[in-house]
Amino acid sequence: MSKSILRVRVNGRPREDAVADNMLLIDYIREVVGPTGTKMGCDGGECGACTVLVDGDPRLSCISLAHSVAGRHVETIDGAAEDGRLSRLQRAFHEKLGSQCGYCTPGMIMAAEGLLRRSASPTRDEIREALGGNICRCTGYVKIIDAVETAAHGG
Ligand code: FES
Ligand code: FES
Repeated sequence: MSKSILRVRVNGRPREDAVADNMLLIDYIREVVGPTGTKMGCDGGECGACTVLVDGDPRLSCISLAHSVAGRHVETIDGAAEDGRLSRLQRAFHEKLGSQCGYCTPGMIMAAEGLLRRSASPTRDEIREALGGNICRCTGYVKIIDAVETAAHGG
């Protein structure tokens, strides 16, 4: 498979990499950019574990080609903390026990981050809808919704 140059910003840093034309965005993030906070759950667009933000909008990186984000800004869970401090969502997931095994958490947090940028004060129904494509096998979802609500409203 031929490679071509991909120019993209990842977590605020400009990059220029020779990337196979058929490389998936999740593989680019994990194998070329690193580190590996972004998770592969189902490999088929069904679980949300691989969610990243592309220009602020949630995107499933397991069904997106790396070259589809050329010229854009990709944000992953590995860029969520600022100056070594957890983001408000990371803190709220920790405090409200929104994360148990943690496998779904990177995707949940990136999907929630996309929501909070669109809507600073979402209702519980809006949170549920925004996270509707993200599957969690551990928490029963209530604590995840609580965490996003806490991040949005404080407390
Ligand atoms: S790994 Fe991408 S949706 Fe499941
Ligand atoms: S915390 Fe285990 S899958 Fe969500």
